[in-house]
Amino acid sequence: MLVTATKMLQDAKAGHYAVGQFNINNLEWTKAALTAAQECNSPIILGVSEGAGKYMGGYNVIVGMVKGMIKDLNITVPVAIHLDHGSFEGCLKCIEAGFTSVMFDGSHYEIEENIAKTTEIVKLAHEAGLSVEAEVGSIGGEEDGVVGAGECADPTECKRIADLGVDFLAAGIGNIHGKYPENWAGLSFETLDAIQQLTGDLPLVLHGGTGIPEDMIKKAISLGVAKINVNTECQLAFAAATREYVEAGKDLQGKGFDPRKLLAPGAAAIVETVKAKMELFGSVNKA
Ligand code: 13P
Repeated sequence: MLVTATKMLQDAKAGHYAVGQFNINNLEWTKAALTAAQECNSPIILGVSEGAGKYMGGYNVIVGMVKGMIKDLNITVPVAIHLDHGSFEGCLKCIEAGFTSVMFDGSHYEIEENIAKTTEIVKLAHEAGLSVEAEVGSIGGEEDGVVGAGECADPTECKRIADLGVDFLAAGIGNIHGKYPENWAGLSFETLDAIQQLTGDLPLVLHGGTGIPEDMIKKAISLGVAKINVNTECQLAFAAATREYVEAGKDLQGKGFDPRKLLAPGAAAIVETVKAKMELFGSVNKA
């Protein structure tokens, strides 16, 4: 069932669990993520970065593919198609293409410009019936070639963006995309708590879900995080399983080169990764 992410995240916040956003890269990824969600009876947000959107051929391709899968695979759990770290233009394209949710990432602008642009996207997206995520305080690491250091958002700026009518809010709390360095200081729960005190019931979003220790994930959920983004972890699982298949020489045996065989272990690894995250986030049986 294709839906916006608003209700699923309000329910998550009220129920003290989080819904996972799993970024997709191709048909196998999408099928694996949706299969895992259905098997776990969990809501799911399919994340699409602008780079992944381009890679897959465009936003219309993705909407068509996801809608087709929901129908043909009988996916009955709530599914949102969400633009991840969207630019202003990217959000407009996704609204047009039929996404059900967009993130406008104005965190690299000065706060006044972030506010002005977020205001505009909230208006356009809500008119078209989509949910909106905004961001304050850049999330470090590398994503689509953009590198930033994990900073902590200013809680009063978070409150200003929250008051624009966004449906959920991402705030930097020392988290970064990709693998965490050995000397990572961990999440700033002080910042998260201060943000939640000011933003109340608004579901908060934790980016950079890969590699955050389980106890920190649970604590973040207890402090108002209702959406957790996971990307790199599925990529690592897919790559490791594919490597194992090739290194075992299986692509050279019989018809082992058939993409339906060659990509199967990687796809199965994504299913397992997504299911484990859904267990950890507490979204199993919350569909
Ligand atoms: P990871 O790649 O670190 O899991 O981060 C995903 C993310 O936050 C997407 O926006």
